Amino acid sequence: MLLAAAILHDASKLVEFEDRTGRKSELGKIFVHAQVGGVRCRDAGLPNDVAQIVTFHNFTPPHTHVTPRSLEYILVTYADHAAADPISFVEGKPTHFDIKKRFFTVD
Ligand SMILES: [Fe+2]
Repeated sequence: MLLAAAILHDASKLVEFEDRTGRKSELGKIFVHAQVGGVRCRDAGLPNDVAQIVTFHNFTPPHTHVTPRSLEYILVTYADHAAADPISFVEGKPTHFDIKKRFFTVD
């Protein structure tokens, strides 16, 4: 379950964007991120738990909070943040863990 969800959690991006510029596709304009991926997991016969993790992986702090249903959900979402936050931090964008607010500087 963990591996399937980890591999597929962002598969929706393949149909949510037109290209790598970030321009959204028609599907991307209609659906919240990962909703199509969650449905496709069900269509492919994967367990509901995998579809649930894929569908809700982006509903995590600081945006919104969904109570985790499984340890695998926590692992996938935290790993996702750990992969994304360093890039966002370097680019000066908001981070999931709100690094600028929660961390302090030591001289
Ligand atoms: Fe995502």
